[in-house]
Amino acid sequence: MHELLIATHNPGKLREYAAIFDGLGLTLRTLDDLGISEDVEETGATFEENARLKAEGYLALSGLPTLADDSGLEVAALNGAPGVYSARYGGVKGAAQLQYLLDQMKDVPWHQRVARFVCVIALARPGQPTQFAQGTLSGVIEAAPRGTGGFGYDPLFYLLDDDKTLAEVPAERKNQISHRAEAARAARVFLEQW
Ligand code: IMP
Repeated sequence: MHELLIATHNPGKLREYAAIFDGLGLTLRTLDDLGISEDVEETGATFEENARLKAEGYLALSGLPTLADDSGLEVAALNGAPGVYSARYGGVKGAAQLQYLLDQMKDVPWHQRVARFVCVIALARPGQPTQFAQGTLSGVIEAAPRGTGGFGYDPLFYLLDDDKTLAEVPAERKNQISHRAEAARAARVFLEQW
């Protein structure tokens, strides 16, 4: 049995990866399983740098092949912000963060509100170069939040194909189309080669 450390404390993410890596014969471990409480700081300027820092950092701490991801929202009219700062955008959390984003975009007309979620996965193992997989999901920033599903910016992220926000579609739908799912499917190809 090959082990792979999924460098997250988030059980939802672990479940998503477990579903996409099903059938590879991998035993997935989490930081909590291994009793790793140190945090590898996300000090990079790009999703790729942060994913690499975490994958290589937790490989060094655990000795196990490690998957780490970094993701966020890029809004074209804001020159790609909040980007790697998505979690701490505006220095606030939750509904206040959605309002902060709306305030930044109050003069931006509908046709210029395009945005995308980006996820970069880094796969690190001993003695080999770290490999990267990326996924994106395109949408439009709504004028007001709608829906109760998902997390983060989902209530403001309108999907043209679904005519719904990401917080209004079922979780199964989000898990098929999301930036994280697309990156994980690309990462699966590397894991098959390992
Ligand atoms: P992380 O790197 O996966 O922890 O994501 C960083 C931040 O990006 C989160 O705190 C959210 O603000 C945002 N984000 C990433 N993925 C999603 C998503 O699927 N929906 C909504 N927000 C997301």
